Amino acid sequence: MPTFPADRLATRAIHGGLVPDPATGAILTPIHQTTTYVQEAVGRHKGFTYTRSGNPTVAALERNLGELEGTPPAAAFATGMAALTALCLATLKSGDRVVLSDVIYGGTVRLLRQVLGPFGVRAALVDTSDLEAVRRGLETETRLVVIESPGNPTLKLTDIEAVALASHAAGALLAVDNTLLTPALQAPLALGADVVVYSTTKYIEGHNATVGGALLTRDPELLAKIRFAQNAVGFPQAPFEAWLTLRGIKTLPLRMERHSANALAVARFLESHPAVRRVAHPWLESFSQYDLARRQQRAGGGMIAFEVHGGTDAGIRVMNNVRLCALAENLGAVETLITHPASMTHAELRPEERARAGISDGLIRLSVGLEDPEAIIEDLTDALVHAGDD
Ligand SMILES: Cc1ncc(COP(=O)(O)O)c(C=O)c1O
Repeated sequence: MPTFPADRLATRAIHGGLVPDPATGAILTPIHQTTTYVQEAVGRHKGFTYTRSGNPTVAALERNLGELEGTPPAAAFATGMAALTALCLATLKSGDRVVLSDVIYGGTVRLLRQVLGPFGVRAALVDTSDLEAVRRGLETETRLVVIESPGNPTLKLTDIEAVALASHAAGALLAVDNTLLTPALQAPLALGADVVVYSTTKYIEGHNATVGGALLTRDPELLAKIRFAQNAVGFPQAPFEAWLTLRGIKTLPLRMERHSANALAVARFLESHPAVRRVAHPWLESFSQYDLARRQQRAGGGMIAFEVHGGTDAGIRVMNNVRLCALAENLGAVETLITHPASMTHAELRPEERARAGISDGLIRLSVGLEDPEAIIEDLTDALVHAGDD
């Protein structure tokens, strides 16, 4: 299997961990849509026995993701939530405590509180952008720290290197959900994280065609526990979804570059618009953690959070009046998507927790797609006229 130097990201995305099909020469890994595999003799097989335990197309995706991240092959899951569940099953037991970023995908909070809470796992939301708050949060014995940087949806950043040091000093593992930037724009393991989490549903597959997830680590013991959970619970990625994800990854570095450039153009437009109260994008000079973004990320990414004057009703009017942008819950795809976090992705959080995390009822999340930026700006220009309607 060819391997490529770490700086050859585009080459690794297209070729990493992949070879033409040995049976036919097909340049793309075939979709091995099969449940089982015929064995040559009892105990003698080609490494695959049953698709819940392993599938050649899924294995190709796992190698490819590993090549991108610079790790052994990933463990690929049916969804991002399945990946997060496997992480918890592999690292936690009853009585253990988890520290979560206070700005984090709402489903992660729901998993920890409503699914794992009854099994005795405790979760604390901490402002991980504040190192002192992290240290205080870690004074109570903690097994696992889970952060997102940028955090969904406000884009608040966490200093991954500093939080990795604090977590390790307190005897906790650090997992970084890198869904919003992907290995193309941020390398959490190089900054000291123990595990990287992906919802491949987003930028990694990138075309609004699949749901999927992945975990990557360099720790062989942890990887073995994750693989055990993947098989024992039975939520691996499926072959067709793995194939679509592999196809998406081939353009990942290219797409992330364009998502970032488009988002910055749209963010600058929003910043200059009189109906807009505030805009967050890590590559804007006005972003409060601009220096950290420049140090930690290779580009700004494709997400924007903004608020218009006139509060929640004005924000909702803008979201209801877009035409090119789609009002939808996903992010990270070629189509520009606009989302109302308070009622959609972050409805799981308590209102006071949303308020503390800066997720106001009027906050608008924009996942900037790959359309012409002028077209996205025209659409937002038309929609913003309605901010002032009664
Ligand atoms: C940052 C982040 N992590 C994890 C998830 C969960 O992934 P999935 O929807 O693929 O289960 C999401 C979904 O929106 C997300 O935004």
